[in-house]
Amino acid sequence: MKTNTTLLHGYSVIDKQTGAASIPKYQTSTFHQEDVFHHTGYNYTRFGNPTVTAVEECITSLENASYGLAFSSGMAAINAVLFMLSQGDHLILGKNIYGGTFQIVTEFLTRFGIEHTFIDESDVSAWENAIQPNTKLFYLETPSNPLLTITDLKAVCNLAKKHHILTACDNTFMTPIHQHPLDLGVDIVIHSATKFINGHSDILAGLIATNNDELYLTLKKHQKALGSILGVEDAWLLLRGVKTMGLRMEQSVKNASKIADYLSKHKEIKAVYYPGLSTHPNAAIHKQQAETGGAVLSFELSCQDKVADFFNKCQIPIVAVSLGGVESILSYPWTMSHACMPEEERIKMGVTSTLIRLSCGIEDSDDLISDLENALN
Ligand SMILES: Cc1ncc(COP(=O)(O)O)c(C=O)c1O
Repeated sequence: MKTNTTLLHGYSVIDKQTGAASIPKYQTSTFHQEDVFHHTGYNYTRFGNPTVTAVEECITSLENASYGLAFSSGMAAINAVLFMLSQGDHLILGKNIYGGTFQIVTEFLTRFGIEHTFIDESDVSAWENAIQPNTKLFYLETPSNPLLTITDLKAVCNLAKKHHILTACDNTFMTPIHQHPLDLGVDIVIHSATKFINGHSDILAGLIATNNDELYLTLKKHQKALGSILGVEDAWLLLRGVKTMGLRMEQSVKNASKIADYLSKHKEIKAVYYPGLSTHPNAAIHKQQAETGGAVLSFELSCQDKVADFFNKCQIPIVAVSLGGVESILSYPWTMSHACMPEEERIKMGVTSTLIRLSCGIEDSDDLISDLENALN
């Protein structure tokens, strides 16, 4: 099955009991049992729910995985993975990482005696050089948020396997239809399904996929014990949203690619970060491991004084923290997605006060470009 067909037919999309063409919202916290020794496979929604199961089957099929799990947010999925680490363990991660992940690693894991090293994620040898005897996890994110840096998934996974280190990859930006980290050797794939997978800026959700039986059982236990399973209503909305992901991504990527090209020639723009541009330093690696440049790009305005005016003058994109909606979303990582990082860390990773991130929606390209043109001029 190809992508658009899988999105509509590749998992449970019909209710087995009634034939309903939309999996119902099994809006219940608990399930009646015929007797105390047997149940239908479901007994309490924190442990599992049929609407949530359909979402888990969906990510399993989209990531070509054996198992999928659905969480209440992308951060809940990330935390379920990080919870596998124990006191005295060490993890390695790129210095360009989503702000929430940075916060968990630096403010929370450290309290439990879990060490970390941030490295230049684009440099394969930096991963190797940072390995310690207690290194248990390589945590990857490619392209990274918000600078769209690229990590060579195959090379880093080969390295991890050589040293018996687990790999987890945040695949939010590329989505499960444009990049398949499991096929490249990653052990666990994570998504903030709040973004492109659901695509309508109306829920929070997180997903995990893996091929490993043992990892699945551990992560399932974390989902249950941490109480972080996806809510039923949100699972139902996600099932509705995901059906059009192929078509949405097609238009959003087309817009991103045209806009990246347009901005890279504009005199008010100091730099454009988009892995679909041939000028991106790791465009070749990205092209090998992903099908498109994705729908998110970042760019630097010529000076900070112009930032507020630019945001005010843009009429089409909404101004918001998130990304991956049908509507274009303009954001300012300096005060939004990366505000929870200390200022010097933001600057160290390149999140400056002139950096703007644009998540392209499905509007008409010409309208988006003329809106940007108007704001820049
Ligand atoms: C790359 C990436 N990973 C994870 C998250 C966290 O996801 P959520 O907000 O659904 O918890 C985000 C949120 O912006 C993100 O951009």
